[in-house]
Formats: sequence, C-alpha cells, structure tokens
Amino acid sequence: MTIKNMTSQEISAALHRLVPGGSHTYSKGDDQFPANAPGVMARGKGAYCWDTDGRRYLDWAMGNRVMSLGHAHDVVDDAVITALRRGANFTRPGVLEYELAEYLTALLPDADMVKFGKNGSDVVTAAVKLARAHTGRRYVLVCGSHPFFSIHDWFIGSTEMNSGTVESERGYTLKFTYNDRASVERVFDEYEGQIAAVILEPVKNDSPYEDPRDSDLTREGIARGGDNTGNFLQYLRDKTRATGTVLIFDEMIAGMRFGLRGAHYHYGISPDLATYGKAISNGYSCSVLSGRREIMELGGIHHDRERVFLLSQTHGSETVGLAATLATMRHYDEHDVESHIWKTGARLKQQVRAAIAEAGLGEHVRIIGFDANPQILCTDESGAYWPTLHTLFHQYMMARDVLIPWITITEAHGEAELEITRNALSESLSCLARDLSEGAVETRLEGPAARPVFRKFN
Ligand SMILES: Cc1ncc(COP(=O)(O)O)c(C=O)c1O
Repeated sequence: MTIKNMTSQEISAALHRLVPGGSHTYSKGDDQFPANAPGVMARGKGAYCWDTDGRRYLDWAMGNRVMSLGHAHDVVDDAVITALRRGANFTRPGVLEYELAEYLTALLPDADMVKFGKNGSDVVTAAVKLARAHTGRRYVLVCGSHPFFSIHDWFIGSTEMNSGTVESERGYTLKFTYNDRASVERVFDEYEGQIAAVILEPVKNDSPYEDPRDSDLTREGIARGGDNTGNFLQYLRDKTRATGTVLIFDEMIAGMRFGLRGAHYHYGISPDLATYGKAISNGYSCSVLSGRREIMELGGIHHDRERVFLLSQTHGSETVGLAATLATMRHYDEHDVESHIWKTGARLKQQVRAAIAEAGLGEHVRIIGFDANPQILCTDESGAYWPTLHTLFHQYMMARDVLIPWITITEAHGEAELEITRNALSESLSCLARDLSEGAVETRLEGPAARPVFRKFN
C-alpha cells in the first residue's frame, strides 16, 4: 500500500514493523498515549501540528520539548536555509562554530569554554567523563528524582531497563533525592573522596528552598532577592566545592523554559559544567557542554595532562544545527520570550485550576511546578499517580484536538491557544468527573493506560 492510501494509525502500525518501538524516543511510543492519539505526524506550524490524515492539533508538547519559538519558525528556518546553501560540513572548523561559541561564552556567566554535540545524551556523558578525568575519581552521584540524563550505559544501567548494560558501567552510578540533604550526605560519607561529580536538573517541579512558598514558583519570587539561605542548590554548590567534586547542572529542559541562561542563573549559583540542548535550536539538532576552562581544557590540545577524548563527532560541526541555535537564541533574547513563557504558564495554571474547581476534581487532578514549566498530574485518593485516569484525561483532550501530554510553552502559544485549551479542559474535566462519580474510569478508557518507560518487561 502506498502511504497516500494509509491512515495515520495504519502508518503508525506499519512503522512498528520497521522501527523497534515505532518511534525514536520511548516517550513518543504508543504505550505512552491513549488509543485515540494521532498515529503519525505530517507537519507543524506555530503552536499546531497536523497528522497524516490532515487533522490539526494544538500542540502543547512540542516534540520532546524541542521548541521555544514554535514549529517551523520563519526566522530560524531562514537562518538554516542560508547555512545549508553555504555547505553543511567542512574539513576544518566552520565559522559558525566560532560565532556560536563566542555568543554563548559572552552570554553564559559560567561558560569559559563550550563544546557542541547533536544531542543531550552525548554532552551529559561528556560532562561526566570530564569530571572523572579532572578529579581522578570514578563515582557519579545522580539525582534519582529526575527521570533521564543520557542514553549511555553509565545512566541507563542504573534504571529498571538495564538489559544489555554491564556492572562495570552502572556500578559507579549512585543516586540521591532532590531536596534531601541527608541522601547526599550519606553517599558522601560512604564514598569519601571517591565522588567525581554530582549531576542534576537544577529544578524540575519543586522549589529548591527548605521552606518552600508558592511564590518560589513564579518569575517574581523564584530567586528570593538573591538570598540563597536554605537553597538546596547552594547546599550542593558548597558541598561539592568542599569535597573537590564537579557540580554539573543539566539545563536540557529548564534551560529554555526558565530563560536563555538556564534556571541556575536565576539563583546566581554557578555549576562547574552545564549542559544545554532541546529547545536551544527550536527543533534542529544541537547541544552544548559549557564550563570552567580548567576542566573543559582537558579535552583540548594545549595542556600537559593526560588527554581526554571529548566529543569528537563527525556531525558536531554540521552547520544547520549551529545556525538554528544562534538564530533561536538571538530571537528569544530580542523578543523576551522568557517573559512570555512565564506569563503564559501562569495563565495556563490559573485556567487549569479554575477548570479543576469547576469540575470538583481537586482530589484527583492538579497542576504543579514552576509557572514556566508546569505539569498536570492525575492522582488517586491517596495522591499517587493514577495512570488510567491520566490516560483517560488525555483521551478526552485528544478528542478535542489538544495534545498536552507534557507542557512546553513557546512564543507561539498565545491568547487563542489559551482559549482553545480552556474549553477543552472544561469539557474534558467534566467528562472525567462524570466517569469518577459513575465508577467508570476503567471502562471509558478506549485502550490500555500509559505505562512507565523505565520498566523491565513489556
Ligand atoms: C534532563 C535531560 N537530560 C538529557 C537528555 C538527553 O537528551 P537527548 O534526548 O537529546 O539525548 C534529556 C532528554 O529527554 C533530558 O530530559
């Protein structure tokens, strides 16, 4: 059958015969979505995307959070077209490598040097390798409250889905809990002098302060006027400094949500190394490792220490991703997209809360997290995540052409999109309230409930 005669669902089913998992990240897989989710997408523009059947969806997810400006943004695409007409890759470094490196080192206060990759996993793994080389230590202390850092075995080996990884890789990855100092202290005590790096997303859904307030999650309140007393990130900075451990902030998600320079910039807390990716290039492929010269230079050719093989990639200097990053970040800065994201997120949170109250669903549905990066949670009576309710909620939102499995606010999400969402939320939550009161949550779900990515068996 030619693709022309196939429905979006049929192409999706056929894709599973050709591609393991039927997609290229597990979070896009069939097991993460309700049965009525679009099968395969054809195109996107601004805040919308279309499946191959021509059905239009309002897209709050934006791929794996890879947009900050919206699908197919003209300014970014024009920069890409100019770059690709000049050649995609050269025998010696390209001038865009210099331009982007100069831009980023001027922009990011903690970046003496930068190195580029094509995805987040590679730069995160490179940061870990540098930390080990710099300290001469083996262990890495990873935030266990954050779901994902890298496809590489030092991290994947530490998850439930560790088939094919070996003990010698995963055995040096230790975990701590966000905002739990005792969990950090315990590991530092047990592995004294052996921890190369602490790595975490600086913030996810929770305030890093010991005495959290609602205002910590707003743009105005986030940094408490620069007073970092009781701030978990400050504690980690002090702890790592005192123990000669490298502090790595993974800004892959937070980076373009909280602002151009990353979430840590708001708190004024400097990591030794930081990683950026996803929305920095508005959908194109580019990632960044940045950090202190003393550490980064180990990957260079002008020092007397042992050489570190740091991100030597055929496609690392490919011009399209570099041009897209420069154009995206400049546009984001010039148009103050940061303010737009915080404001739109605050509005969306208000809307969701109003719709929850209207449906009387306060015990089962919540919107949590920072205004710039909110998340909708569906829970059972005990407050635990309820996969069936979550999937049913998204089934109702999909039926109203709203894709909101996670929330990635971009410049393209404005008044019209908030209005569409308000109506879809109101209808979907009232359906959910009816199902709960009739005890029909399981029966109204059309397919299986979403399942965790990191599980041992299918
Ligand atoms: C916090 C974080 N770090 C690293 C990565 C890996 O990025 P990539 O998928 O580009 O390899 C992800 C991807 O989801 C992520 O969320």
